[in-house]
Amino acid sequence: MKRIAVLTSGGDAPGMNAAIRAVVRVGIQAGMQVIGVYHGYAGLIDAEFQPLTLRSVGGIIQQGGTMLGSARSEEFKTPEGVRKGIGNLEREGIEALVIIGGNGSQSGATAIMRQGFPVVGIASTIDNDLPCTDISIGVDTAMNIALEAIDRLRVTASSHQRAFLVEVMGRKSGYLALMAGIAGGAEAIVIPEVEIGPEDLAHQLREAYERGKKHAIAVVAEGATYGADAIAHYFKEHGEELGFELRVTTLGHVQRGGTPSAFDRLLATRFGAAAIETLQRGETGVLQVLQAGEVKTVPLEEVFASKKTLDLRLFEMAQILAR
Ligand code: F6P
Repeated sequence: MKRIAVLTSGGDAPGMNAAIRAVVRVGIQAGMQVIGVYHGYAGLIDAEFQPLTLRSVGGIIQQGGTMLGSARSEEFKTPEGVRKGIGNLEREGIEALVIIGGNGSQSGATAIMRQGFPVVGIASTIDNDLPCTDISIGVDTAMNIALEAIDRLRVTASSHQRAFLVEVMGRKSGYLALMAGIAGGAEAIVIPEVEIGPEDLAHQLREAYERGKKHAIAVVAEGATYGADAIAHYFKEHGEELGFELRVTTLGHVQRGGTPSAFDRLLATRFGAAAIETLQRGETGVLQVLQAGEVKTVPLEEVFASKKTLDLRLFEMAQILAR
């Protein structure tokens, strides 16, 4: 294989740059030309191509975001969009495409693969909701950002004897909220996988004060049935009878832009290098994943036939630890 392309798609994740750098440098070492596709699938449709060199990926390993830019493209969800993208790749003489991204991006990769064009996916999303991989690029950094926020809020919560609610990202997955909640010593965790209403949450926080705690922190996943808004509304109506106030902090995109942690840089570098080795073996239509510490490939069809589940024993453990 002599000419390949790489793109980043969907929500940016800290570590994407390290993955691009590894694809380019290991690809060039393997005798390949590596073309960057700018702005994800939107750029694929518009043929936003530019050759990448050893130097063009210099000084990016420590940067969050993606030097290639990213996008969420509605047009690429259509068969015409996919055909147009593949047509552009073929016209450029590109023989395979490396796609760095999460669920939506890997669905796009699957659509390209089903049209017979060779692809290799790299698992990258802060949500950690991609099946078949223990973890994806960006999760560790995003979790540490959430954790830093929780630690800071705890200080103010203790000073004022207030309750704080921190909403973290994760789409429909409670992974980030659960792990940040455990690591941050939260008094309560609200995730989509375990339904809990505002009244139950208020009860849990109240109990924390009754046990002599000075603070009460609840970590809420953005995808929870009763999210930050519903909980805040409940506290507004019942604050007086509960006897304590609640303040809400929504972390939002702050979690996506951080400097990648050592773990994310290393994971992304291993995934990027492995994607080139996968192509050299002539293996395509797969996703680079991490399983029990080892970088492996899983067929994209298998990824989408699987469902990522959360280990709810951790949720039970979090409740015991919150005592
Ligand atoms: O998938 C990453 C993610 O940050 C989710 O956690 C969040 O729900 C979504 O992307 C936000 O998307 P956007 O950046 O398009 O607003």
